[in-house]
Amino acid sequence: SAVLKTTQFSAARLDEGALAATERRWMLAFLIAGFTALMIGASIGPLQALNYGGINAYPALHPVLKSYYQGLTIHGVLNGYVFTFFITSGLLVYLPARELGLHPNLLLWRSGFVLMAAGALMLLWSMFDNSSSVLWTFYPPLQASAVFYLGMTLLSIGSIVPLPILLEMRATWKHRRRGELTPLVTYMSLVTMLMWGLASIGAVAELLLQLDPWALGFTSTVDPIIGRTLFWLTGHPIVYFWLMPAYVSWYGLLSRQAGGKLVSDPMARLTFVLLFVFSLPVGSHHQFDDPGFSPIWRGILVALTMSVALPSLITAFTIGLSLEFAGRVRGGKGWFGWFRALPWSNPGVAGQVLAAITFIFGGATGVVQGSWQLDNIVHNTIFIPGHFHVTVGSVTAMTFMAVSFWMVPHLTGRSLISRRLALASVWLWFAGMSIFALGMHWAGLFGVPRRAWISALPPSEYHTLYGMAHVPLALVAIGGVVLWLATFCFYVVFFGTILFGSRGTYREPIPFARAFGGRESYAIDLPLTDETTPVGIVAHPALSPLARTLEHVGLITLGTAVVTAAAYIPILWPFVHHLTHAPGWIVW
Ligand code: HEM
Ligand code: CU
Repeated sequence: SAVLKTTQFSAARLDEGALAATERRWMLAFLIAGFTALMIGASIGPLQALNYGGINAYPALHPVLKSYYQGLTIHGVLNGYVFTFFITSGLLVYLPARELGLHPNLLLWRSGFVLMAAGALMLLWSMFDNSSSVLWTFYPPLQASAVFYLGMTLLSIGSIVPLPILLEMRATWKHRRRGELTPLVTYMSLVTMLMWGLASIGAVAELLLQLDPWALGFTSTVDPIIGRTLFWLTGHPIVYFWLMPAYVSWYGLLSRQAGGKLVSDPMARLTFVLLFVFSLPVGSHHQFDDPGFSPIWRGILVALTMSVALPSLITAFTIGLSLEFAGRVRGGKGWFGWFRALPWSNPGVAGQVLAAITFIFGGATGVVQGSWQLDNIVHNTIFIPGHFHVTVGSVTAMTFMAVSFWMVPHLTGRSLISRRLALASVWLWFAGMSIFALGMHWAGLFGVPRRAWISALPPSEYHTLYGMAHVPLALVAIGGVVLWLATFCFYVVFFGTILFGSRGTYREPIPFARAFGGRESYAIDLPLTDETTPVGIVAHPALSPLARTLEHVGLITLGTAVVTAAAYIPILWPFVHHLTHAPGWIVW
């Protein structure tokens, strides 16, 4: 019977191994799909930067790109949606599964991938055939082809699929370990997906109720202001859907990678809940310059928007202190010695720390735009894209790049083909984005408009209109070229490692962090055979009333839904009672 037991045991181990290998392959597929989208999207970005520097590359690109606006739509849709959705839908399932020692529902996870891939292909098709140059906000009455809207619908629905997977895994785990707190990475992932599940109702409603029927010819006109309001119900929280997965890595992994511990597990939980609660009701701050809703509401929106500074500051302090601790453990002394002592030669750490630094600027300029009065100065200028390239364009993009530097070796068993090139890519990204963003913000203050093909103007007119912003516009173009180099270095490392990295026998484990005051480990029910069993982190339930309270994610979701409804009903009410019937416009 001992023999029987052994064979049964090894058969079980084999299954485990095969399942884990399948999950790694899917995670890799999510990474490749996401980074391929970014590769196409980011290669167009520098052309836009050159446009602002007065260099018009578009005639040379004809007929691949027929206009600046076609390129800009591709850039925004691929980078803002396709890239981020694929990476996030992979990470926020894979990391929690390994943390809990459970297997995710593969059927659902694959379905999410297929939905998003089908959506992305339809979007690519309709954008490259120049039928849908409606920019990433697809505001009606600008009209795209039905393929575009249907693709966007599939992509959006696919991006919500991690939510049921996480709910199922958490329920299984909770059932086995009554009374314990959800481990941190799972908790953060779940709150992110609950936030996104609620948030996406806006865009999905806009697509299903307004844009799909309109593009398919069931209705002949569309109400632009209702469309915009529904869009921003999703379009503001999406910035947290970009940010929170990066925070998952900062809170859940970075401190361990840097050689230290997370200084507070409950603060990480609180940050995620605050981001969830504050992000949902405030989307209409993107409509400060739209007509039709009361100034009182605009004032309330400003106040609510500013509340988001709170979780951002908690993050700055918690991550800052965790890094300081790591630096001191590594022998750093004095005020700044700890910062220099961080493991800068590790591209996975360097990328995240540099991303965190750029976020200080992103947060600060966000406060400007969130204020109704100040926003009037920068509205629709290139200050705005300046802002979101130091947020999603750096915080998210660089963090995901940094994650790929350990994750691709972890998934494939191959080692990075070049640490140096990986380091160069994140430093060049940091430098390029800093120069670029400085130029964009500065030129925005001169009133240089966003979404404007200004390089197509006759040179004399370009100089009359924008001559005073000559220096900042030159910085925009220079930053763009540096970013091209950064992108090139990154893709050599990324695809080079997947294809040609040398195979080892050792699989890099997932660097799950540990927290002070936390339990050192979970005994995992289903140990994975061919990798080190990960160690979760969590404040002990008895130690943290805060963490215990925040375990009630259902109630938090319900409360947020009620507050969001309370914020949107008064805004939508007058619009629904004064419908506008706009015919579609195809401009470019
Ligand atoms: C827009 C450059 C990477 C997301 C823009 C604009 C420029 C630009 C100049 C403004 C165009 C205009 O308003 O007319 C670049 C450069 C990049 C880069 C040089 C470096 C490779 C990224 C990344 C993301 C991103 C990584 C997101 C992950 C967007 C979005 C827009 C935009 C969503 C708005 C498009 C619109 O207004 O419809 N980019 N970008 N970009 N970028 Fe980037
Ligand atoms: Cu917003």
